[in-house]
Amino acid sequence: MGRIFSGIQPTGNLHLGNYLGAIRNWVLMQKEYESFFCIVDLHALTILPEAPQLQANIRKAAATYLAAGIDPEKSYIFPQSAVAAHCELAWILSCLTPLGWLNRMIQFKEKAGKEKEKANLGLYGYPVLQAADILIYKGTHVPIGEDQKQHVELARDIAGAFNRQYKVDYFKLPEPIILKTAARVMSLRDGSSKMSKSDPSDYSRIHLSDDPDTIALKIRKAKTDPEPIAGNPKAMEKRLEALNLLGIYAALSDQSLEKVCSEFEGVNFSTFKQRLTEKLVSVFNPIRQKMICYLKDPKTIDAILEKGSDKARSLASCHLNEIKDIIGLLKT
Ligand code: AMP
Ligand code: TRP
Repeated sequence: MGRIFSGIQPTGNLHLGNYLGAIRNWVLMQKEYESFFCIVDLHALTILPEAPQLQANIRKAAATYLAAGIDPEKSYIFPQSAVAAHCELAWILSCLTPLGWLNRMIQFKEKAGKEKEKANLGLYGYPVLQAADILIYKGTHVPIGEDQKQHVELARDIAGAFNRQYKVDYFKLPEPIILKTAARVMSLRDGSSKMSKSDPSDYSRIHLSDDPDTIALKIRKAKTDPEPIAGNPKAMEKRLEALNLLGIYAALSDQSLEKVCSEFEGVNFSTFKQRLTEKLVSVFNPIRQKMICYLKDPKTIDAILEKGSDKARSLASCHLNEIKDIIGLLKT
C-alpha cells in the first residue's frame, strides 16, 4: 500500500481551488492509501502571520479537512509544527540541495517579487522543508494542484540526491498526483491568475465557509463576457474567465469540459451562472454546516490533531533514526 502526504498552509480561509485541486482528491484517495494530511503551519510562518490569527487558522483548516470528508479514523490530520522531525530532516536535505535547484523555483520568484534581497530565508528554503514533509514519512503519492508540481519534482530530485550521496536506495521517489479537471482553478475576477488565499479581493474566490447568498453574489459578480457558451472548449480558448467557470462546473459535476460545453451550447452566462451557483451550494453548504459544528467544538478538533500528531511523530522519529544512521549521526 502506498502512503499519501499532502498539506495546506493555514494562511486564510480555504477556497474552491484548495478543494478541487487538493482536498477532494484526498477524500477519494484516503480509502486506498495510508494518509497523512498536514496543516503546514511552519510554511505559513514565511509570511509572518499574526499569532492569534495563525492559531485560529490552524483549527479552521482542521475543521475544513474534517467537514470536507477526511475521516480521522482512517487518516492522520496534524499540524506540521507538532513533529520536530520535519525540521531536522529539512536541515539534512538542505545540505544536499544545490542553490541552483532552488533558484529555479517559480513560487519563490512569484512570492519574493522584485525585492528578492528582502525575502526571508524561510521563503527560499520553503521547498526543502516541503521535501522533508513528504520524505520523513517516505510518502509515495502527493495529491496537489498544478502549482505545486515543481516542488514535488524537486522533492524527487532531493530524494535521488540523498540516495546517490549515501549509496542507498532509502527514499522511493514520491509521485505528484494531479487530477486534470480543475488542476488550476483561476480567479473569478481575472482568468489569467490563480485563485489564491492571498488575492486582496474576496470576490476573486469562493471560500468553503461561504453561505449560499455569498456564493450567489460572488458568482453573479464573476467576470465573464457577453457571448453565449460555445459548443466546445477549443472555440472558447481566449475566453479565460468563461472557460474557468465552465471548468469549475465540470469538476464539481464530474464531467468533462467538452460535455459541459455541449450541454450549455448557446446558453448565456446569466443563465449558466444560476446553474453554477446551485451546483456550488449543493457541494459547499453541507461542508459549511459541518465546519460550523466542528468549530463550536475545539476540544474534538484538538483531540483529533493530537491523535494524528502522535502517529506522525512515531513514524517520523523511526525514519529519522534510520536516516541518522545512514548519514553517520548517532541514533537517539
Ligand atoms: P495553498 O493554499 O497554497 O497552501 O495550497 C494548498 C493546496 O491547494 C495545494 O495542493 C495547491 O496546489 C492547491 N491549490 C491552491 N490553489 C489552487 C488553485 N487555484 N487551483 C487548484 N489547486 C490549488
Ligand atoms: N507548498 C504547499 C502549498 O502551498 C503546501 C505544502 C507544504 C505541501 N508541504 C507539502 C503540499 C507537502 C504537498 C506536500 O500548496
